[in-house]
Amino acid sequence: MLDKHKKVEKNSILLLVLIVVVVSVGGLIEAVPLFRVQTTIEKVQGMRPYTPLELAGQDIYVRENCSVCHSQQIRPLRDEVERYGHYSLAAESMYDHPFLWGSKRTGPDLARVGGKYSDDWHVAHLSAPRQMVPVSIMPSYDFLNREGLDLTHIADKLRALRLVGVPYTDEMIENAYNDAMAQAHPETDSAGLTERYGTKVQVRAFDGNRDMTTEMDALVAYLQVLGTLADIRNYNPDLAPPASQDKAREGEGK
Ligand code: HEC
Repeated sequence: MLDKHKKVEKNSILLLVLIVVVVSVGGLIEAVPLFRVQTTIEKVQGMRPYTPLELAGQDIYVRENCSVCHSQQIRPLRDEVERYGHYSLAAESMYDHPFLWGSKRTGPDLARVGGKYSDDWHVAHLSAPRQMVPVSIMPSYDFLNREGLDLTHIADKLRALRLVGVPYTDEMIENAYNDAMAQAHPETDSAGLTERYGTKVQVRAFDGNRDMTTEMDALVAYLQVLGTLADIRNYNPDLAPPASQDKAREGEGK
């Protein structure tokens, strides 16, 4: 055996070829199952596409590059689960384009931050982080309180996401602008919004300012929904039906 190994050690081309073979076996084992990505997404109740307002908030999160400091992926390790809650499921980010798992945690993971704080806390913290957490190194995003939310292209965004597989209906696309406004204005009629996205949709003046729909409204609406959609309490990986029942998933989340 060692004799044979000598050959490999003396012949760099052979060594290179063998390295490529070994590395690609490992690579294939990791990558091939993901080509059938549906089989890697577990079935869990409650997932729905983001409402237009939450989606606008996610766009601000992407624009401000919050993921440079925050991850959105709780790993199945004991310390993470104790700190942040149930580990993240693939299904929970299946409607995220781009996904925002992140790779850097200067600040805490945000995958389950929804409902952890009040809207007022978020607005105060985003406006002046050190007012809420004196040692924070997070930058201030006070300007979001003054920027009017630009919803000009919101219907096009839903349409584009539908192209990549997010189950937005024609009705959701047609009403995107109205749904966004209805979610940020509790005094208006939000029946259409809850009919399309479910009764659990949170309808509030998220930034506390009823006169203007701001970028802060959208960002806080987005933060408050993170990790709250999937019915984690009733999720049991041992009981979940095989994910290959793709038929059952169709129509879900509408
Ligand atoms: C320079 C790194 C940095 C950037 C950029 C940043 N944050 Fe933070 N964030 C932190 C740190 C550090 C903390 C922990 C201290 C604190 O609460 O302020 C934090 C805390 C938070 C918390 C509280 C989380 C918890 O569970 O207590 C939220 C929510 C949050 N950030 C949202 C955002 C959003 C939204 C953005 C983008 C608009 C953003 N952050 C950008 C560093 C950052």
